[in-house]
Amino acid sequence: MVDWTDAERSAILGLWGKISADEIGPQAFARCLIVFPWTQRYFSSFGNLSTPAAIIGNPNVAKHGRTVMHGLDKAIQNLDDIKNTYAALSVKHSEKLHVDPDNFRVLAECITVCVAAKLGPAVFNADTQEAFQKFLSVVVSALGRQYH
Ligand code: HEM
Repeated sequence: MVDWTDAERSAILGLWGKISADEIGPQAFARCLIVFPWTQRYFSSFGNLSTPAAIIGNPNVAKHGRTVMHGLDKAIQNLDDIKNTYAALSVKHSEKLHVDPDNFRVLAECITVCVAAKLGPAVFNADTQEAFQKFLSVVVSALGRQYH
């Protein structure tokens, strides 16, 4: 179990309350597909991913970005038990989807960049970044947990 300080807890919940999953999800997922193009290999059914503009304008990308970001709502609501919260999702990404778990880390990086760009340095300062990075690294580790 992760030990969160009260300051971390309130920083994470505070940041989350200031962003919209429906806005950041599509942005972050599109950014991941552009910046780390090998992540496109799992989404061959999504249609045109041939240019950054095509990726950004692709409705399947936007929809999946919202799905992923709303998936993070579950971690926010279960900060003290993220591992168990993601047990089934980890099995799914491992055994059914065969997603290389290092990709969780690169998507988390894109989420961080999009949240930082949205909120700016006054809100996304060193303290809130520390808490948010810790949150995402717990998520990444929980999603990678059922890999053997
Ligand atoms: C599906 C969450 C990262 C590939 C899903 C679903 C959720 C989810 C909630 C839907 C599961 C269902 O329908 O039962 C997350 C979270 C992530 C993450 C919270 C990290 C923060 C990734 C990454 C990749 C990936 C990095 C690949 C690069 C997929 C694929 C599907 C999927 C291929 C199935 C898509 C479809 O065909 O509908 N993910 N995911 N996920 N995820 Fe992830």
